[in-house]
Amino acid sequence: MKAVKVGLLGLGVVGGGTWKVLTNNADEIQRRAGRRIEVVGVAVRDVQKAQGLVGDSAYVTQDGMRVVRDPDIDVVVEVIGGETLAREWIMEAIAQGKHVVTANKALLARHGNEIFAAAEAKGVTVAFEAAVAGGIPAIKAIREGLAANQIQWVAGIINGTSNFILSEMRSRGQSFHEALAEAQLLGYAEADPTFDVEGVDAAHKLTLLASIAFGIPVQFNKTHTEGISHLAREDIAHAERLGYRIKLLAITRRSERGIELRVHPTLIPTERLLANVEGAMNAVLVSGDAVGPTLYYGQGAGELPTASAVVADLVDVARAFDVDPAHRVPHLGFQPESMVDIPILSMDDVVSSYYLRLRVEDRPGVLADLARILADADISIGSMFQEPHGDNDADIIFLSHEAREGNVEDALRKIQYLPFVKSKVTRLRMEHLL
Ligand code: NDP
Ligand code: HSE
Repeated sequence: MKAVKVGLLGLGVVGGGTWKVLTNNADEIQRRAGRRIEVVGVAVRDVQKAQGLVGDSAYVTQDGMRVVRDPDIDVVVEVIGGETLAREWIMEAIAQGKHVVTANKALLARHGNEIFAAAEAKGVTVAFEAAVAGGIPAIKAIREGLAANQIQWVAGIINGTSNFILSEMRSRGQSFHEALAEAQLLGYAEADPTFDVEGVDAAHKLTLLASIAFGIPVQFNKTHTEGISHLAREDIAHAERLGYRIKLLAITRRSERGIELRVHPTLIPTERLLANVEGAMNAVLVSGDAVGPTLYYGQGAGELPTASAVVADLVDVARAFDVDPAHRVPHLGFQPESMVDIPILSMDDVVSSYYLRLRVEDRPGVLADLARILADADISIGSMFQEPHGDNDADIIFLSHEAREGNVEDALRKIQYLPFVKSKVTRLRMEHLL
């Protein structure tokens, strides 16, 4: 059968890995795909460096449009990142009737609806396994393996950089900045690492997971996003003592009231598998009504793991090359005319458990006043811990039962202004993942 000809936009961490996997595993990939998959054109900024890697087997150019418009090329792999050129080149590739494989979650989170609509109109595939959780086939698992289910919720550790930082801070006592520098050296971090540490990258990925889980449009702008850069080391230590680990968790859940879309540091009981996902590893926990909870674990970033997902998408494209577009797996797992626009819940309406820490004057009546405000807001206290601080103060930690977040925020506003409260109240969410 005729080989599938690939144009590679970018030959950095992911593009270089894709080249290596396609080269090293060419025979095995052909046995699976039924055709050879050959890179024939590459676009980069540094032509000389790239030509050194690919040799004579492909041309190298700075002009991505040349690759995208090359009539010999069947599939364009976009791994340059960013939202400007990547979007132009992908839209042009689709217009040219070429299939697209991309690892660019930032682009899909913001422009996915437009890109998928254009691809459907043109009858081509836009595959994006590498955009979520790197080498873990989470997209394929939810979209195809769990197709029988009504998905109830998805909770994931889907940013390797922030998980690496939290693990290093907890286990090796590294500072936030030391751990971030190491993650950057290892090639995990985004070009702009604030995307990693402020939860933006995880939110990009979560919006894609929510779309394939619930058949809803991609809605990055409605995702609540909090990162780990302001997390205090003492909260990591307190959580550990209380039997929890703090993870940057990306959660989407369907309820009768709407869909939750949220990324934030979260206390998880230490005995949960997710709490033990360490370093740059990722894990995605998916609960379906028929199957129950299922867990997908693996490397969420880096050269070869991410390339593994890119190449798997290429194999899918190669296998379905001559298939009528109507018989391919839909981009988001649901037939386009069956997508629904379920409202996204505001954070005030989300129900969770909470970890609250504050410093107070250690004198009679303090605890009673705090408990009264929490009770008036319908917040039930699960447990409470107190530690003396100096001669006159104490640090208090409350772990609440489930409460509506809007009520918690109202109560905290009142607590914050009490005369005996001597610190800003730290509020972290807790999830039991059952
Ligand atoms: P890199 O920065 O390592 O590589 C980017 C590549 O794109 C380089 O080869 C660069 O060329 C090329 N490039 C950039 N701008 C241009 C341009 N204007 N014209 C031509 N070529 C250009 O990025 P990554 O490989 O890390 O990331 C690529 C994408 O994959 C991003 O969307 C990222 O979010 C995503 N991703 C990354 C993962 C990872 O672990 N790194 C994991 C999952 C997804 P040159 O080499 O000449 O500089
Ligand atoms: N910067 C991302 C991470 C790369 O750390 O997980 C993988 O998407």
